[in-house]
Amino acid sequence: MASPLSMQLGFAARTARRSIATSVAVRSDALFVHRDTPYNNPSLPFEFNEENKKIANEIVSHYPPQYKKAAVIPLLHLAQQQHDNWLPISAMNYVASVLEMPQMRVYEVATFYTMFNRVPVGKYFVQVCTTTPCALGGCGSAKVLEAIEDRLGIRAGEQSEDKKFSILEVECLGACANAPMVQINDDYYEDLTPESVIKVLDMLEKGGQPKVGPQNGRLNSAPFDGPRSLTTKPYGPGQYCVPEFA
Ligand code: FES
Repeated sequence: MASPLSMQLGFAARTARRSIATSVAVRSDALFVHRDTPYNNPSLPFEFNEENKKIANEIVSHYPPQYKKAAVIPLLHLAQQQHDNWLPISAMNYVASVLEMPQMRVYEVATFYTMFNRVPVGKYFVQVCTTTPCALGGCGSAKVLEAIEDRLGIRAGEQSEDKKFSILEVECLGACANAPMVQINDDYYEDLTPESVIKVLDMLEKGGQPKVGPQNGRLNSAPFDGPRSLTTKPYGPGQYCVPEFA
């Protein structure tokens, strides 16, 4: 009778020979893995400036002392804002020490939310939505992306040599009613065409501030040809009620 060990070895030999399914190799591990570089490693100093220290204290004061780690997202956001819109590992470690939580728990948050940029981005971080509503029909986000790439001379996922712009192709940014759209730093530019997005980039490059929101003249996401609902004067309270409820 085979011993449990020999049975285990036989099983191991059989399983070692058996082909196993593997997932497709990803093109980049950048989303998941930190590797030390000269510009991003734990020995580089980071701490909040005086103004952000006050803001951080204010944020932390909103939570009971035993739950102050709940402030991890706003504090990481603050750190990213202070650090040219990207989050080095030393900033994550600093936030972990401020909130007295394990560094790994901070890494888990920073790697889960793609709004945290863990590699340097340009001064203007152009995020182009290419999800279905922005891509379909006359919207044409593919043409908008192509125009941006041609204008800046870089592809999605790259940064310009002068570090002024970087482009990222992203999923829905929640402004589908004004498709196609891009987010540049904290601002949305909507109802775009290849021509209007170039005007936005031109103005940013010259140091100007383009008008945010729709670029085709409409008000927010109102219909192009004027209001179609709530077009009459609203009636007053009780106007159509039976007398006993009026
Ligand atoms: S699909 Fe582009 S904003 Fe929603």
